[in-house]
Amino acid sequence: MTSFPEQFLWGVSSSSFQIEGGTNEGGRSPSVWDTFCATPGKVFEGHTGDPACGSYADPVRDADLVAGLGCGAYRFSVAWARVLPGGDGDVNEAGLDYYERLCDLLLERGVQPWVTLYHWDLPQALEDRGGWRSPEMPGWFERYTEVVADRLGGKAAGWYTLNEPQIFLGMGLSTGEHAPGLKLPRKDVLQAIHHALLAHGRAVKVLRTASPSTPIGWVPTGLTTAPATESEADIEAARTHTFALHDQPDWWFNHAWFSDPALLGHYPEQGLALVGDDAPDIKPGDLETIAQPVDFLAFNLYTGSLVRAGADGRPEQLPHPPGHPITSFRWPLQPETLRWAARFLHERYGLPLYVGENGLASMDWVHADGKVHDAGRIDYLTRYLSELRQAIADGADVRGYFQWSILDNFEWAEGYRMRFGLTYVDFVTGERIPKDSYEWYREVVATNGASLPDAIEPLR
Ligand code: GCO
Repeated sequence: MTSFPEQFLWGVSSSSFQIEGGTNEGGRSPSVWDTFCATPGKVFEGHTGDPACGSYADPVRDADLVAGLGCGAYRFSVAWARVLPGGDGDVNEAGLDYYERLCDLLLERGVQPWVTLYHWDLPQALEDRGGWRSPEMPGWFERYTEVVADRLGGKAAGWYTLNEPQIFLGMGLSTGEHAPGLKLPRKDVLQAIHHALLAHGRAVKVLRTASPSTPIGWVPTGLTTAPATESEADIEAARTHTFALHDQPDWWFNHAWFSDPALLGHYPEQGLALVGDDAPDIKPGDLETIAQPVDFLAFNLYTGSLVRAGADGRPEQLPHPPGHPITSFRWPLQPETLRWAARFLHERYGLPLYVGENGLASMDWVHADGKVHDAGRIDYLTRYLSELRQAIADGADVRGYFQWSILDNFEWAEGYRMRFGLTYVDFVTGERIPKDSYEWYREVVATNGASLPDAIEPLR
């Protein structure tokens, strides 16, 4: 059975607002998520970014947990509001000290720090000046990147610019389900996306100069599909459907609209035809700025669908059969989308790939024996990882996998009710209890995936 390449990088992921807590500590200013949490009815039971996992107060426990897994890398994000509380004004050294210490704790334990610059917690001060709607945003992001790169440049082993622009712009500015909770017309959202792409490009330039030998990429998400059968027609239908912009409310949940400009230097034709006059205002030189050379493409994937070539030859997305397995989030399991997403993304963009996030929300609690038995998570990860192994066998250049997440944490509009961790967190006491999946993942990492079974029962 093919296995994972020798240098394959096994990691785990987290993000600042979801784990840190200490939202009023160390000179941090409010972010859009603090404001959103304080707005009645926006977040499940009014949960907020405190206490989260208390990682700001004590990052040592997290570093120990990551190292205990034997992981080669930890992906975490920097909170802009800790580093530049005014968004673009004075630097808050205490904020930078925290992230530098976290890097040092990881490095001392043999774990590479992989740093995400932006995982959704925009300083409220910048939102008040227009946030992603403002054409000034790329400049603000460039300055923030300079400040972070200046301090962490010698320590970061990998850089991610933006995490899931599809979600913070789509759910933040289009559906209003995430901070800042706006419901803007499509044209305005497309313009904000353009600003985010420019911000990404300008950040890549800064990072390239500040740490020339460190790999740089970004970590989008989007609709992913797998062919219903391995016929050429179904494969082509799944490929087309995956990259097409769809005329539906979550049109922004799309890889091509974001990664074609960033990685190929142009917006996709099909998407431009669909959005027509809503297309963003593109100034001369914008696409050159956006399409800075990067070293890898990461992607986050949790769910997906099957697609076949319909009678008229057009792609047809199949509904999930009744009783199909779903997560606590009601996301259908569709492990084969990891194999096909890796293949399709590799074909289209030709870059080394990393899985930036993949994991399961389940109803975990501490069992009568004091342990957290999360067999569902183990099965979910087993299935997805075996599909990733297949993608590599098919020829996709996948360099690493970051499981989401090392800890149960604040799951955005769902508050603390969705548990994604390999480690259980008691949000009242802060206690951490490694789940069964933690021990299981340690074995996967230790054996470079050889502990995964060769044969997998189909999902049903
Ligand atoms: C995401 C997010 C994470 C979520 C995870 C589960 O990038 O969507 O990066 O913050 O917690 O995806 O929904």
